[in-house]
Amino acid sequence: MGKVYEKLLRCYDCVRERIDFTPEIALVLGSGLGDYADGIKVAAELDYSEITDFPVSTVPGHEGKYIFGYVGEVPVVCMKGRVHYYEGYDISDVVLPVRLMKLMGAKVLFLTNASGGVNMSFQAGDFMMIQDQIADFVPSPLIGPNMDELGVRFPDMSNIYDKELQKVIRKTAALLDIPLREGVYIQLTGPNYESPAEVRMCRALGADAVGMSTACEAVAANHMGMMICGISCISNMGCGITANPLTHAEVQATADRVAPLFKQLVTECIKNIHGKLSE
Ligand code: HPA
Repeated sequence: MGKVYEKLLRCYDCVRERIDFTPEIALVLGSGLGDYADGIKVAAELDYSEITDFPVSTVPGHEGKYIFGYVGEVPVVCMKGRVHYYEGYDISDVVLPVRLMKLMGAKVLFLTNASGGVNMSFQAGDFMMIQDQIADFVPSPLIGPNMDELGVRFPDMSNIYDKELQKVIRKTAALLDIPLREGVYIQLTGPNYESPAEVRMCRALGADAVGMSTACEAVAANHMGMMICGISCISNMGCGITANPLTHAEVQATADRVAPLFKQLVTECIKNIHGKLSE
């Protein structure tokens, strides 16, 4: 058995010793959604630091935990805090938390993040449903011996973001009267923001939004056969599009400003996805 798979199973055993909860939907909380779980019916919480060998963020003050609970009737597990490749982790550690949520029983992976707008028609504060992605600027999490227990060696990536889930999200946003952009997300390593030339490169490659997470998680989840969907909060326009230099504070401030709407959108999407799965 490979080391990565062994570690995953160790983490799984550790979770199961503490928590007996089967989520239907796994939700990764990006910037702006950090306190999302405050608004749900919480059944249990598990600090990442309590899970043996689990990658814990190196950034001081960055707490991280799984929160288990219910959005309406829907059993969910939320990841409050994710580790990023730029923190220096191996890419297999970056995706371990997502793989673990699949082992817990989650069928759907709902990814959220904050990103920079690359598409010139976008504005800071917009929401973009992720239709497809470019993950090639970070190593594939599938490099290394294939974990046959999880998925095949050469997985198809033609429909990473599930078409039916996209329909549900589109319809939900329309019903809530929340404008929704759609497009391609590109993951770069970070932690520096892009130069104006790099933002132009992203656009030339066909991306609409750029960020430092998510795509590698989607590759690992697709390998495992999860149904995936994602919404990105465009927290700023990419460097060079506006005259202002970019700061993390600005990115956070925009994400926080639109957070109430983002939460409402995510909540209703989760309920409607559950409805769709139960049909
Ligand atoms: N670039 C990369 N990642 C980001 C950005 C950006 O402009 N905004 C939020 N996350």
